[in-house]
Amino acid sequence: MEKIAIFGAGNVGAMTAFLLSQKIEVEISLLDIDRDKAKGVALDISHSLPIFGLHSRLEGGNDPGLVSGASLVIVTAGFSRRPGMSRSQLSGENRKIILEIARECSNLSPDCVVIIVTNPVDEMTYLFWKQSGFDYKKVMGMAGVLDTSRFLYYLDRIAKIDPGSTEAMVLGTHGDDMVPLIHWSTHGGKRISEIVDKEVLDECVTRTKNAGAEIVSLLKKGSAYHAPAAAVAKMAMEVLKDTGKIFPVSAYLTGEYGIKDVFIGVPAKLNRNGVAEVVEIPLSEAELEGLRQCARNVRKRVDDILV
Ligand code: LAC
Repeated sequence: MEKIAIFGAGNVGAMTAFLLSQKIEVEISLLDIDRDKAKGVALDISHSLPIFGLHSRLEGGNDPGLVSGASLVIVTAGFSRRPGMSRSQLSGENRKIILEIARECSNLSPDCVVIIVTNPVDEMTYLFWKQSGFDYKKVMGMAGVLDTSRFLYYLDRIAKIDPGSTEAMVLGTHGDDMVPLIHWSTHGGKRISEIVDKEVLDECVTRTKNAGAEIVSLLKKGSAYHAPAAAVAKMAMEVLKDTGKIFPVSAYLTGEYGIKDVFIGVPAKLNRNGVAEVVEIPLSEAELEGLRQCARNVRKRVDDILV
């Protein structure tokens, strides 16, 4: 059975483990500094499996050895935003956690593919990659799949265009400067900018950008976890199934879109080795400039937190 290790048994980690255990037959190790919490979540999920006749296997604990043999590692450990906070304000708190996990992965599971969820995700993905010494293609961050799903939701609810026939994507950083593609995205083969009023599209973009913060302020404690977990579970399944399909993920750029040495959200082909290829799609000038601005912003923030 394929093995996935998930760092962090909080809401996102637990929900990701739950979704994966229901969708594919898999061995999941859930790691958390709170050993009993990890064990409890793993046991609780395990108790659900006979209900649907499923055969995944879960174990939980705080022993880094649990990561050994994992072909995929998902990192959700760390603090989440409190109301009023931006994701980048979590850097100080989450930096050490990511460095520690990167060390453990490079010692115990050096051939795995890694998906980072911990915020600020683009910066934490870079930090993990630097510290682990992994091939950059093996490391990616989760944001674009989530932000795109939110964008599709608002396009459906506000602009009344059905997600089934809409091709849309959100690129850039997982922050206020994210770039929902207005020029590139289409509905029924037509550009959404040609069939939806600008004010309506602007509202969809604003709601998408603020979606995470809106949920933080509604929940009061903790941040969104159902949609983030669905997004990371989807990415994990694409990697393990070696599909070669294209998703927006935070990937390392080596000159694509004129950007270098930074992880930001771009379309990428996912396979068993991680990011098989960053795909360059035809962006408008404004979209391209938005992406480059994101890259400059992340780069600056990464420089501030690098060891
Ligand atoms: C959010 C977190 C995952 O956007 O950043 O809800």
